[in-house]
Amino acid sequence: MRHDSGILFAAGRGPGLLTGRRKTLLALPGCNRGEAGVPETCIYFGSDAQRAILRRGRALRDILAPWPRYSYYGRVVGITSLDDETLDDMVALARVQGNSSCTAVPDDAVPQMARTLKEQGLTPLHYAKWEGDGDAARRIIETQAMPRDLRLVQVDARTPGSVLESLADMALDCGVLPMCSDVLRGLLQPSVCFVALDGQGRVVSCAASSAYAHREHPLCGDQAWWGMLATAPDRRGEKLALILGAWAMNEMAAKFGYGRFMTGVQPGNGASESVCAKMGLARRGASIVVSADPVSLGPGNLTK
Ligand SMILES: CC(C)(COP(=O)(O)OP(=O)(O)OC[C@H]1O[C@@H](n2cnc3c(N)ncnc32)[C@H](O)[C@@H]1OP(=O)(O)O)[C@@H](O)C(=O)NCCC(=O)NCCS
Repeated sequence: MRHDSGILFAAGRGPGLLTGRRKTLLALPGCNRGEAGVPETCIYFGSDAQRAILRRGRALRDILAPWPRYSYYGRVVGITSLDDETLDDMVALARVQGNSSCTAVPDDAVPQMARTLKEQGLTPLHYAKWEGDGDAARRIIETQAMPRDLRLVQVDARTPGSVLESLADMALDCGVLPMCSDVLRGLLQPSVCFVALDGQGRVVSCAASSAYAHREHPLCGDQAWWGMLATAPDRRGEKLALILGAWAMNEMAAKFGYGRFMTGVQPGNGASESVCAKMGLARRGASIVVSADPVSLGPGNLTK
């Protein structure tokens, strides 16, 4: 497992973000001296290419967070609406970060969009968008018990780095790229992450949820992204994804007031579709189109 840390300047949080950025700029040599931003350490997991993409995504998020047009849930900046400029912006974001997405593509617009992205030398990927409320999560928590040999833990600022490394090892082996550590720990924006630990302290399952759109976005400001589902092959079929996924949804609702959730699933991922359906999520005619830049990422996907 590879990981890396990058020093970032705290760039403020939420709508007041520009103030924080200005403070950081004022601290640069040649600028009037102001109150410097506080250095932060954020950890990125995955291959060299994946970590570089996550780092660029995080930095771009700090710049674009005030604008409701853009989304971020811990991997890269994407776009929240489909209009005349979406494709041009997606192409530019993919070239800057190595990856980008649009979370609001009607299913019947996917083929044309994919063709256009291909013409630009990018690799289009289609994720079916599953959406719903958190009602099923509450029922699942009440009725489904964790296997007795496992411990449910919510990741936060005090979670040891060794737990995050074990999470990343397991998730990456499953083809799932963890979000940056600031989002896993809930330090950057509304977000939660749960893991199941076995008796040896090994992470055997994980799930997460995060804000992805600006709170004032008229269509999806009250909707959270949910996912990062991964279970070690030797522990699959014990409803761990269902239970941890339910805890993630429920905590996002209880702590931050999110009542709507969405996720992207690659068509044909039967296990994931099965978990989504039990979580009360359903297809509503929209897709998430991802555009990967092979120059940054090579032939692979950023994540499942
Ligand atoms: C998806 C994943 C997280 C599910 O983990 P899990 O802990 O085994 O999930 P659960 O036990 O809660 O539920 C899995 C359900 O999928 C079903 N399932 C498994 N394989 C399936 C398949 N190929 N087609 C349809 N259903 C399938 C299981 O029977 C089970 O349903 P049941 O409870 O009614 O029996 C796990 O398979 C995984 O890590 N896959 C690789 C990573 C991945 O694809 N992540 C999702 C990215 S969107």
